[in-house]
Amino acid sequence: MRNIIVFSGSPRKEGNSDLLADAFVSGATGAGADVEKIRLYQKDISPCIECGGCDETGICILDDDMREIYAKLEMADVVVLASPIFFYNITSGSQALVERSQAFWVRQYVLKQGSIGGKKRDGIFLSVGATKGKLLFDGSLRVMRYFFDAIGGKLQAALLVRGVEKKGQIKQLPDMLEKAERLGMVAADSGDYSEVDGIWLPG
Ligand SMILES: Cc1cc2nc3c(=O)[nH]c(=O)nc-3n(C[C@H](O)[C@H](O)[C@H](O)COP(=O)(O)O)c2cc1C
Repeated sequence: MRNIIVFSGSPRKEGNSDLLADAFVSGATGAGADVEKIRLYQKDISPCIECGGCDETGICILDDDMREIYAKLEMADVVVLASPIFFYNITSGSQALVERSQAFWVRQYVLKQGSIGGKKRDGIFLSVGATKGKLLFDGSLRVMRYFFDAIGGKLQAALLVRGVEKKGQIKQLPDMLEKAERLGMVAADSGDYSEVDGIWLPG
């Protein structure tokens, strides 16, 4: 059974990205995965304070909710981040999670401890923005590539939805919720995300 963590990185509960996260959870759970959803804005996660505390151990010295999240990340086969675009980036709550993955980066690339938790994991990004600009998701996709790499994974797929602004507006795009659900099913099962039409895949 695949172990999946879904991080919801919007301050808005039941906002557009949170609903995409829920659809993903529903698909993955229905397909038999062991899924946990974590709302980042309900957690106490400090940004990285660049203290160097993890430099020699790969273990972050900050005592906050990342402690339990590090343990869960080590067990995960699939990690999902659902975040809206704020100023052409992921939200600050999501970025705190990303920055704190530095401890895992140290384990892999400085201490050469190998893959985190002894396995490779899939990374999936679900995102929404109000505008329709061509470059809307470019910066965040780059961040996701390096985030998933730091936690011993690879950005394997992204669902990117333009033109949704009001809370819950994504319900008017049932095809997008369906794609998120399908992604969840595939994540729980084959991991062949190319089975889902109209998503972003690495080139
Ligand atoms: C602080 C802030 C910054 C935003 N910046 C952008 C932006 O740069 N580009 C964009 O298309 N939408 C931007 N938006 C709009 C949100 O991405 C949009 O409303 C989205 O649907 C919110 O998703 P949520 O319901 O999951 O929070 C911004 C919204 C806020 C509150």
